Amino acid sequence: MNRKRLLTRRRTLLLGMGAFTVAGGLRHLNNQFPEIVYEGKDAIGKKNFTVVGDIPLRERAASKGLIYGAASSYRALASNTDYATSFAKECAILVPEAQLKWDALRPSPNRFDFTRADWMAKFARTHGMLFRGHTLVWHKALPKWFAGTVNKRNAERILLEHIKTVVGHYAGKIHSWDVVNEAVFPEDGRSDGLRNSPWLQFLGAGYLDIAFRAAAEADPRALLVYNDFGLNYQYEEPKRAAVLKLLERLKSRGSPVQALGIQAHLWCDNSSKFNPKTLKKFLREIANMDLKILITELDVSDKNLPLDVSIRDRIVAAIYEDYLSAVLEEPAVIAVLTWGLSDRYTWLNETDSRKRLDRSLVRPLPLDTNLKRKLAWNAIARAFDQAPKRHSEQVKSE
Ligand code: G3I
Repeated sequence: MNRKRLLTRRRTLLLGMGAFTVAGGLRHLNNQFPEIVYEGKDAIGKKNFTVVGDIPLRERAASKGLIYGAASSYRALASNTDYATSFAKECAILVPEAQLKWDALRPSPNRFDFTRADWMAKFARTHGMLFRGHTLVWHKALPKWFAGTVNKRNAERILLEHIKTVVGHYAGKIHSWDVVNEAVFPEDGRSDGLRNSPWLQFLGAGYLDIAFRAAAEADPRALLVYNDFGLNYQYEEPKRAAVLKLLERLKSRGSPVQALGIQAHLWCDNSSKFNPKTLKKFLREIANMDLKILITELDVSDKNLPLDVSIRDRIVAAIYEDYLSAVLEEPAVIAVLTWGLSDRYTWLNETDSRKRLDRSLVRPLPLDTNLKRKLAWNAIARAFDQAPKRHSEQVKSE
């Protein structure tokens, strides 16, 4: 983008911020964050993000036939009663952040350890929440023994045993499974756009069909999801196209994929431009394949924003509201999960932190580290309040 346009756009951002002087804002942005460009639906400063009442997110979503919830680690829920209380208040679905992955479930090739995942399933049941599984097949979070044990000869048997055992263990208690996670990666240069993962190397492209069929057999009631990231922004068109083609192939072969999970890890920098029209067209194409859509890992990284929390929170909230307003127009979208509920526990403080910038904590989620609702919470609440109501048959029964 040429400098003149960038300058103009930056002025839009700053002029729109209302509460902040343009000079002060420019100084902020020029000195520290020249690459920031964000133009939401309305100038950010004019938004007041007001919500009516203090009804929790789970109830606002449910009133429109939607499901809202979040990911959490076992440790966060088991060691913090205040956090567990907030989680139960705001969320109608829980997805374990790590406890249903291979490295958490499989201490050795011949052993399954469901202790922590079972505790989380019970926590969900006790608080009237749905429980979702993440993930049965991924190229990451593989246990240390995997590389030296699994090979072309035994991979199918080991994969089938894993899916049969894990899905069977929770049969009838799971809302949905991310059966396969992040299998598309056009950068690997394959004509089918698939990632060159260990599963592809061992079993070929058919591993996805094997996984979905095994999951359907083990739990016919679970909604079976293909989950991936990098599907929202203008520059991500190649990945959207590759995911569409993968889903078409799976459907044409009769594999029981029933939904697309869009992770939606969003950013605040000038590459993160989503065009609502493009996004809604993609969602419609997915829905026209008779697939449901879940927003599975929503968060908004404020790593590249100014230190000033009042600026960061406003920009993050505007992105939450603009993104959700666009996606919730699509009736096939049945659920929204944030990847965490509170800034106290976000993966982004590990992997995409502000440590090298100003050592401040990131603020990507609806609640702050003290479990207080932020403008991001307001933005999500407003998006649910404004969303079109879903017909009841679209939401799987609790
Ligand atoms: O629970 C163990 C603990 O007993 C042990 O002492 C500790 C020592 O390392 O590790 C703990 O497990 C960690 C787990 O998070 C705890 O929740 C794993 O090492 C760590 O690798 C794991 O990281 C998770 C990562 O996926 C890999 O599984 C992150 O929390 C989680 O946010 C991240 O989530 C992924 C989604 O699955 C897919 N989409 C992207 C998203 C972000 O990367």
